[in-house]
Amino acid sequence: MSRHFLKKLGLSAALLLSVYACGGGGVPDDATGREIYVQVCARCHGDDLTGQVGPALVGEGAKSVDRPESYLVQSISAGIGSMPAMRGTLTEEQIRRAARYVMERQGR
Ligand code: HEC
Repeated sequence: MSRHFLKKLGLSAALLLSVYACGGGGVPDDATGREIYVQVCARCHGDDLTGQVGPALVGEGAKSVDRPESYLVQSISAGIGSMPAMRGTLTEEQIRRAARYVMERQGR
């Protein structure tokens, strides 16, 4: 492999990483709560919100179902336990939309 190619490869990796790290993350400003959930949350909480690495957000025993919106917003924004903070990835408005989507799916 030529040095030139390796250098280019390194550059593209760095570029990709920085886009990811600044939360460009590819979430459009006007994404709906559902779109944000699918793109950012589903890999940990499951497509149907019943949990994966992260806990279930719907159904019996899901702790967040009877917590206020502020609990969801706070958990998403600042992170909770091993869940990473999303405030660097999502805008405040996007976090609120994601929280509203979860609450909608919880039937409230
Ligand atoms: C990297 C995996 C991961 C991602 C991505 C993630 N979460 Fe989490 N989430 C977790 C884990 C793990 C917990 C449990 C943390 C704890 O209590 O120790 C959690 C907890 C929560 C809680 C609190 C649940 C409870 O029962 O108290 C809510 C609400 C939540 N996440 C919503 C979201 C939303 C909405 C998104 C997307 C914006 C999201 N999470 C993205 C892993 C993730």
